This record gives sequence, structure tokens and C-alpha cells, in this order.
Amino acid sequence: MSTTMETTKISQQDDLWKNMELGKISDEEVRRLMKIGIEKRIKWGTKPTQQEQLAQLLDFNKSLRGMKMATEIDTLENHKIYETPESFNQIIGGKESAGLFTDETTTIEEANTKMMDLYCERAGLKDGHTILDLGCGAGLLVLHLAKKYKKSKITGITNTSSHKEYILEQCKNLNLSNVEIILADVTKVDIESTFDRVFVIGLIEHMKNFELFLRKISKWMKNDGLLLLEHLCHKSFSDHWEPLSEDDWYAKNFFPSGTLVIPSATCLLYFQEDVTVIDHWILSGNNFARSNEVILKRIDGKIEEVKDIFMSFYGIGREEAEKLINWWRLLCITANELFKYNNGGCDGYRPLDSKRKQLRPQQ
Ligand SMILES: C[S@@+](CC[C@H](N)C(=O)[O-])C[C@H]1O[C@@H](n2cnc3c(N)ncnc32)[C@H](O)[C@@H]1O
Repeated sequence: MSTTMETTKISQQDDLWKNMELGKISDEEVRRLMKIGIEKRIKWGTKPTQQEQLAQLLDFNKSLRGMKMATEIDTLENHKIYETPESFNQIIGGKESAGLFTDETTTIEEANTKMMDLYCERAGLKDGHTILDLGCGAGLLVLHLAKKYKKSKITGITNTSSHKEYILEQCKNLNLSNVEIILADVTKVDIESTFDRVFVIGLIEHMKNFELFLRKISKWMKNDGLLLLEHLCHKSFSDHWEPLSEDDWYAKNFFPSGTLVIPSATCLLYFQEDVTVIDHWILSGNNFARSNEVILKRIDGKIEEVKDIFMSFYGIGREEAEKLINWWRLLCITANELFKYNNGGCDGYRPLDSKRKQLRPQQ
């Protein structure tokens, strides 16, 4: 009898997701269900005592140290979230991480530029520095740096071939000759050079063994170099972002199992074998929530155009393209709810301050 009940529960969940992908569940209902999911996850991660909370963090860190640098790399490399057509990237603002929204009227383009300028300021970037951007995505930061710091040489590493082609094409159009793009998996690539500044924006969430990852990066840093690293976080617990139960539809359907980690805000303080944390900021989740809200509006405002873009880029029919649009809409809605939960998770933090870490190699 219990088996029958379990099967029914699973098939109800499959139906729920199928209906969501078909656009048959209203946005309000998706938001309501997402809030329930977030509350369950917070309950799961929040321990009754401070000692138990700390033990959760330490056990998590220990589990990472026993793992490969990253898992399921090929699954993520071919995943629809990153292998996107450039015309679609243009519509949604081109950054795969948060912008910095300083007031109600800030557009996503302005927010993305403000955030990149803040990276430069906090990294103490100077024209002439050699710069490495790991997991550079569609190259918004690489191009921003190349335009702003003409004497600098910027090297970007991406494992998405369409991103490499796009960035190099943009460099040609903009007459930028200070950019090199390496198409590679960061966990496998070996480069001889060392850099004044290294940026890792939104990439460590796709790694598992942070110790090995930071060791690798430290070898690419000059002795007085700095690493500016930004990651999503929860303020008190770390999470492998695996489904907590059969009805955990949102954890199951956006990032494949094994490809995502959400570290706690303090997680990297425990990984200082090869780099030293010299500064540490927290950014309100409201920023990433707003990026997602704007992207949702952009998609909604250009549904027919996005459909045509998807059909031609992926070689799919109208129905599949509609499903993919719904998937993107669901991603934006759930991310919006997740990052704005509890006023951006930043009780006790200044709302528009920023969270990232600046790390120096050990001498
Ligand atoms: C959240 S996005 C951030 C992209 C970019 N830094 C930004 O802020 O827009 C993470 C990026 O890491 C890339 N990535 C993930 N795993 C990687 C790997 N093993 N090697 C190279 N890039 C990887 C993805 O393709 C994606 O573009």
C-alpha cells in the first residue's frame, strides 16, 4: 500500500512539472509553490542550536574535500541554461549573474555595468594589469574590461564554444585587440601565465572540491595578485542543492543533479590553504531577484521573437520552443522568489552592499 501511495505522489509531481512546462499553471501558483519549497529548504538547513549549525557547515566542507574538483561537467556544458543564442542573451542583458540595482529606475544594463564597475573597484584594478576571467560566460565582463582598460590583457576561459565565437566577433567589431578567449573546462585546462587579477563570478557554485579549485587558481596568480570571487550563498548553511524529497520540483528541474552548490556566506573562510581572504562583502539577494524579474519581463515582452530565436538556434519546432520559453519563465520566477525571500536574506546586512571575496595567494 505504501508503494502505491509513493507512486501516486511521484506521478502527481511529474504531472505538476509537465503542466508547469506547458504553461498551464499560473505564475501566482508557481510563486506560491516555490515559497513552500523555500520554506522547506530553510527548515532543512536551519539547525536548532549554533553548535549544530556549525557542524552542518564543517560536515559540508569535509564532504567537498573528498570530492573531485567538479562533477557532471559535461552535463552542464551542454545544458540549455548556458548554451544560449546570442540574440537571446542580448534581450536578457548578457550577464549570467546579478546586477547591482541602486534605485527603482535602474535598468538591467545599468545594473550589470554598476556591478562590473564595483568588481573593478574592489579588485583594485589598474590599467595595465593582466586579468583572467574564469567561467566568463557570454563575455560581458571581458568586453567591459577590454574597453575600460586598454593597456590590460584580458584572458577569458569558457567551456561554451558559441560564447567564444561571440566574444571574438565582438572584439573584432569593437576593434579590441587585448582579449584572448580559451575554450576549455577550467578543471582540466593548464595555462603557463600568471595574472595580476583573477575574476571568478558565479563559477564556484559549479565546483565541488573548493580546496583543489582554489589551489589551481592560486598558481595562476602573481605573488601580489588578487582574486575576486563572487558566489550565491545562504547566510547560515551550505547546500549541494539536491532534491530534498520527491516533490522538490524546483531543485530537480533547473540544474541537473551534481552541478550546483550553494555555499554559506562563510564557507570560503574554511578554504584558505592556498589563498588568504583579505576582504569579504555581502550583497542583498534582492539584486539577483530583480535581475530575474527584469529578464522575465523582457522575455514576456518579446515572446514571439524569442520563440523564433529558439527555433532557429536549437533547430526545434514551435511547441518545443514554447516549452523552452516556459522553462526560462519558471527559472526567472523561482529565482526571483528564492533571492528576494526574507528581504533578500540580508537581515542585518546593508541592503545594497556587496558580497564577494578578495583573496591573495599564500606567500
Ligand atoms: C553563472 S554563469 C556566470 C558567467 C559569467 N561569469 C557572468 O557573470 O555572467 C557560470 C558560467 O560558468 C561556466 N562554467 C561552468 N562550469 C565550467 C567549467 N567546468 N569550465 C568552464 N566554464 C564553466 C558556465 O558555462 C557559465 O557560463
